[in-house]
This record gives sequence, C-alpha cells and structure tokens, in this order.
Amino acid sequence: MEPIKLSERVYFLGVQDWDRELFDEIIPLPQGTSYNCYLIKGSEKVALIDTVDPKKEDIFLENIKELNLKIDLIISNHAEQDHSGAIPKVLSLYPEAKVVTNEKCKNFLRDLLLIPEDKFLTIKDGEELSLGDMTLKFFFTPWVHWPETMVTYLKEDKILFPCDFLASHIATGEIFSKGDDFIKSTAKRYYAEIMMPYRISIKKHLEIVKNLKIDMIAPSHGVIYTDPKFIINAYEDWVSDNLKNEVILAYVSMHGSIEKAVDFFERKLVNLGIPYKKFNVTRADIGEIAMALVDSATLIISTPVFLANPHPKISFILSFINDLRPKTRFAGIISSFSWGQRIEEQIKAQLNFCKLEYFPSIILKGYPKQRDFSSIENMVISIKEKHKEIGIL
Ligand code: FEO
Repeated sequence: MEPIKLSERVYFLGVQDWDRELFDEIIPLPQGTSYNCYLIKGSEKVALIDTVDPKKEDIFLENIKELNLKIDLIISNHAEQDHSGAIPKVLSLYPEAKVVTNEKCKNFLRDLLLIPEDKFLTIKDGEELSLGDMTLKFFFTPWVHWPETMVTYLKEDKILFPCDFLASHIATGEIFSKGDDFIKSTAKRYYAEIMMPYRISIKKHLEIVKNLKIDMIAPSHGVIYTDPKFIINAYEDWVSDNLKNEVILAYVSMHGSIEKAVDFFERKLVNLGIPYKKFNVTRADIGEIAMALVDSATLIISTPVFLANPHPKISFILSFINDLRPKTRFAGIISSFSWGQRIEEQIKAQLNFCKLEYFPSIILKGYPKQRDFSSIENMVISIKEKHKEIGIL
C-alpha cells in the first residue's frame, strides 16, 4: 500500500496483514489485521508514529522510501513488537534518528529489541515536542494493553494516534471510516479480546480523549476514524457498568447428558423471553465468546466431569474468561458426573478474578432426571428475577 495522506503533511505508511490468523498465538483474527504507522512532515523535523510487525517491515520500508525523506524521530507509543518491531531497522537506515517515548517504554524497548540507551529521547506525561510548524503532545495511558502505553496528539491537525487504544483487528482496503455496524463489531471484538481486562483504566483514559479537540483518530490497527465520536461513544458503552438482559450458555457435552440439560435450559430461556448466546466450547470462536462477555449479565458454564476435573476445553475457556475479567454479574454451573464432585469449587476457583454472584449449582448424576429439569427451570426463573432486580428487564 502506498503512502496515503491523512492531511497535508500527515501520511499513512501502514501495512495490511490479510493472512494473519492469530494474535498472541491465541486471539483469532477472522478479518486479519493491519499495522498502522504514520509519518508527520514538520517544517523542521520528520516524525514516524509507531512502526510495524517485523514480518512486514520490508513493505513498510518501501512505503517510507516512497516519500524520500529523512526520519528524525520515531515516536513509540507502545513497546509490543507489532508496533515497535521495525524500529531497529529504521534506526539502521536513519542512524541519526531518536526514539521518542516514556521511561517505562524505553526500558521495555531496550530489553525486547536491544536498542541502545543513546538512541532515546525520553518524554514526560503531557510534554510537547515541536516539529517546527507541528506540535506533538504525549499523554500517558498505562494499561491500554501494557503498563507503558501512551497516546500522541498532533495539535495543529487535531489527529489522535492512540496505538492499540480504540483500535480494531481488520485488514482493509478502505482505511478511512465514519463507522458502521461491521466496523463497530470489529472494534468490539478487539475491545473484548485485548482491552476488556483494563476496563477501569480505559474509563479514566477515555476522559483524556474526550477533553481533546479531535478531528480524526488514527490507531495502529484497523481503520482510521473520521468521526471520532463513533468509536468514543462505543467505548463509553463498553467500559460502562451497563449490562444487557442476555445469558451466555457455554458448554461441552461428551455423551449427551450436558447437551440435554443445556437444550432444556435454552427452551426455558426462550419461554421466558430472555435473549441468550449459546457456545459449544469445543468449536466456538473464542472471540465471539469474548464479545458476548462485554455486556451479557449472566454466564452459565456447563461441563461433564473429565477424569476428576472440568472438561479441559471448559478449563481453557474459564482461564480465558478469568483473564478478560468481564463485568458479567451472575453465573451458574451445571455439571454431570459419575464420580468426582468437586467441580463447583474448581470452576469458582478458576473464575476467581471475576466478581460473580452464583445461582445454586446443578450437579447431575449422569443423564438429567425430572428433578434436574425442575432445578434448571428454577435457575432460569432466578435469572429473570435477578435481571429485573438490576433493572435490565
Ligand atoms: Fe497491537 Fe499491544 O500491540
């Protein structure tokens, strides 16, 4: 992709990665991703904002060469290698350039990419840096992925470069977007998988963004928002304490007992008019589960006993959910056993980071019987009551 102008002296130099299937070797990327970076041509200095994943650095360097400019500054908003990985290559081509970042990010970059100390220019929170007729201002936003993350604001053109924050994993031939349902769902998936554990920090940092005059938000993955309110409003909703009248049914069934119970649960939810999302965890897209966890009020985990533990596929998803720390309020456990009855405490221990109020668990001895179906019906009635109690029904 050739350099594209965001404004008179700001260029997009990013690279689309249409074929990437996984991020961090776990997050599915059904739309691929992109590594966005930008070049700002000030009257005195030329600055790059972030770089790209090293596996795409050749295309990126071709993009830089197209502009035939000398790079003076490399702004590093975040040390993760999908944005910083090409910095050493840029430094080898432009040895006079300095890497501009905060102290914490500098230390990460020194450890991760072995960049020498004398290559850095360290800035403080709120500091400004002049490029001549353009001014960059830096705001520290720790934990919009890692502890060192920051955003960069180009004052004159009112463009915010927030790196991972407000981004989305999507490779696209249309880099500018006003926002639509599809773009919102890619941003929600990204928020769910990457940002949700930091909801409280993000709430705070969103105020920094809201207090700036912004005409364009140019993240380091996915589309550039030409209507900043679109993504800011979406984030305000996701990071809020608002919950939806919705139930997540996440299950594994080995020989049909759990499946029978979950099918009955589903029928009762339909009878009571409670929306739900059902995931057979053995084949579900974990990104879809993460998206549901952004605002569903209730999570039901159903698993057979596998040897003496929850099914390993359920244990995996519990560990994933626990890391995401969703704002889900209520939870229920359904299990089926022939021997071994510690499932309830094992599941609760695996979700120890989540603040959940549990319904009484339903432990089936083998195939569900009449009393079990009654218990399921009661759990669904309790869900309805709880959702009413918190005002979402
Ligand atoms: Fe896109 Fe945290 O890296």
